[in-house]
Amino acid sequence: MITELALRRPDDWHLHLRDGAMLQGVLPETARHFARAIIMPNLVPPVVTGADAAAYRGRILAALPAGMTFEPLMTLYLTEGTDPADLRAAAASGLVKAVKLYPAGATTNSHSGVRDFDKVRGVLDTMAEIGLPLCVHGEVTDPAVDIFDREAVFIDRVLDPIRRATPGLRVVMEHITTSQGADYVRSADRDLAATITTHHLIINRNHLLVGGIRPHYYCLPVAKREEHRLALRAAATSGDPRFFLGTDSAPHVDPLKECACGCAGCFTATNTMSLLAHVFEQENALDQLESFTSLNGPAYYRLPMNEARIRLVKGDAPVSFPDKIQTGAGPVTVFDPGFPVFWQVAQD
Ligand code: NCD
Ligand code: ZN
Repeated sequence: MITELALRRPDDWHLHLRDGAMLQGVLPETARHFARAIIMPNLVPPVVTGADAAAYRGRILAALPAGMTFEPLMTLYLTEGTDPADLRAAAASGLVKAVKLYPAGATTNSHSGVRDFDKVRGVLDTMAEIGLPLCVHGEVTDPAVDIFDREAVFIDRVLDPIRRATPGLRVVMEHITTSQGADYVRSADRDLAATITTHHLIINRNHLLVGGIRPHYYCLPVAKREEHRLALRAAATSGDPRFFLGTDSAPHVDPLKECACGCAGCFTATNTMSLLAHVFEQENALDQLESFTSLNGPAYYRLPMNEARIRLVKGDAPVSFPDKIQTGAGPVTVFDPGFPVFWQVAQD
C-alpha cells in the first residue's frame, strides 16, 4: 500500500479569492499548498480591464502572509464592452493569463456577463490570434431549461457554435459536472480542455438534497446524478492531459449560505489535496494525481511546471480539518466530504 507520495507543487486553475477581509482570510488556505491559481474576476464590480487586474493582483500579493509564496494568474471578466486593445496589452505584458466568460445571470456576480455573443466576436478573434485561453462557465440561463440540463444544453447551443465560429480559440470548460461535458472535451482534437473540481468528484445531487437540504453542498454548476460523478472521476484519473484541477473553491460567509436563498459555492481550499489523494487512491490512480494537479494545467496554459515538490502522507488515524475558518468577513465552512480522510500534505 502506498502511504507517501511526492508531487510537483500543484496549481489551482479556477479559484475565487474575493477581496478585502475575505481575501485576507482565505488566501493562506490556498497558498499553503498551491504555487499558482487562476483567479476568478467576479468581484463586485468585476475585474474588467487590465488596470483592474493589475490593482487586484496588487491586493492579493499584499494579503499574502510573510514567508508564503504564491503567484496569482489574473483573468479578465468578459463583458460586451471589453476592449480588444486593452486585452491584447494586458496579455502581452504577462499580467493576464485568461479571459472569463460568464453568460449573464448564470452564477454569483454574473450580471455583467455576456447576453449577445455577437458583441464579443472581436475580442474572441483577438484571443484566438494571440492564443489567450477563454475560461467558460458552461451553463445556459434560459429559464425554460432545467438546471440539471444547463451544461449539456450550453455545449450544443453556445459553446460548439463559438468554437466553430472562432477557429483557433483556446477554451477551458470550467468545472464540468456531466458526462456530456467530459465527452465533448474528448471529442475535440485541439484547443479544448476542462477543469474538474474536488467536490464534484465527491458529491452527487443526493448529497445535496436527501435527508434535508445541505447548503454547503450547493454550488454552480449544481452537482448532478451519480453517473455523472463517476464520469468525472474517470476523466480526472485517466491521465488525459485535457483534464486538470480547478477547485472552484468559492467562499461565502455562513450567514449567506445558511438562509432562505443561499449563495452557491463550496469552500475546498483547506482540504483539497487530502481529498484528491483519497479519491485517486479509491480509483487506484494515485499515479495520475500529479498529472491532474500539477502537469496538465501548466501544459495547456503554456506555463512552466513548478519545480518545488509537496509530499502527501497517509496516516493510520483520520486527519482532522477545521469545520470552519474564521475570516475578518465572518466564518466560512470548510467542505465536509462526509467520510474520514487519512491523507495530508506533509509540513516539510
Ligand atoms: C462561484 C462564486 O461564488 O463566485 N460559485 C459557485 O458555486 N461556483 C461562482 C461560479 O464559479 O459559478
Ligand atoms: Zn467559480
